[in-house]
Amino acid sequence: MKPKILITRAIFPEVVERLQAHAEVEANQDDILFDPAEMARRLADKDGVLVVASRIDAVALGQATRLRVVSNMAVGYNNLDIEAMTRAHILATNTPDVLNETTADLGWVLMMAAARRITESEHWLRAGHWKQWGYELFAGTDIYGATLGIVGMGRIGQAIARRARGFGMRVIYHNRSQVSPEIERELNAEFVDKTTLMKQADHVMLVVPYSAATHHIIGAAELALMKPSATLTNIARGGIVDETALIAALREHRIAAAGLDVFEGEPKFNPAFLELSNVVLTPHIGSASLPTRRAMAHLAVDNLLAGLGLGPQAGNPPNPINPEVLGASRG
Ligand code: DGY
Repeated sequence: MKPKILITRAIFPEVVERLQAHAEVEANQDDILFDPAEMARRLADKDGVLVVASRIDAVALGQATRLRVVSNMAVGYNNLDIEAMTRAHILATNTPDVLNETTADLGWVLMMAAARRITESEHWLRAGHWKQWGYELFAGTDIYGATLGIVGMGRIGQAIARRARGFGMRVIYHNRSQVSPEIERELNAEFVDKTTLMKQADHVMLVVPYSAATHHIIGAAELALMKPSATLTNIARGGIVDETALIAALREHRIAAAGLDVFEGEPKFNPAFLELSNVVLTPHIGSASLPTRRAMAHLAVDNLLAGLGLGPQAGNPPNPINPEVLGASRG
């Protein structure tokens, strides 16, 4: 009998077809948002789930007695209750690496747009305000030759640092642990404590995964250390920054600008951001290039099939989050 699979949100039709070759697939191509109770109902008879921008919590898992694999189409997995999955011997997987360069690109886009006041000046121009040149008109902060401070030196952080070479930047970073001397040499990056980073960086870039340990690691105290000319870019997760403190710092021009792709409680966000001209806002599009989203979707399928014991990598999913459940599966 073919396994049963749920795809939680709309996805490339070719991905649905690929899964249909191996499984009975319930695909949500109408892109309906399932609440936890509805998710639980849909998962009740499934062996695997391809999670596309959805939350799978303890309620959603409540009736999922057959579920063996939860394959997340994202590198971050704060949308999954990993502890509950591990307890129930359900394998969870994610999609690292394939999105590193695209996400690093967006970090740079936001940092440069914030520093050079791109969206603010474009809105002003479109509104018909441009009558004459002015020596301070939308004068911002330099990128070239500045100090870049990266909080989180994982794979995406490293891809961001690599780009800094072309801009003659000094790179400082803070991370749970120092990266190897070889990587530091290659990136020309110097490990510093968080306080030093916040004080010295002209541009702070946040790339740490979200967890209880990283909740609000940038708050009023950290923002107070920053230079008034500095920018803050967050492409990681909203909960890393205390948004109330950030809004106050931007409103009072205690820092120059921010670039934000992620928000606490997204897609809802604090409407006060809309009143600030010194923040560039994007709707969580870090990995949003078509080739990268395709690569993420196909990697998620590889993980799902392999976790269910199907396809060329059967039994060996490339990206297990809780590998301890491999071999202790429910099936
Ligand atoms: C990820 O993969 O975690 C991204 O933030 C989702 O686009």
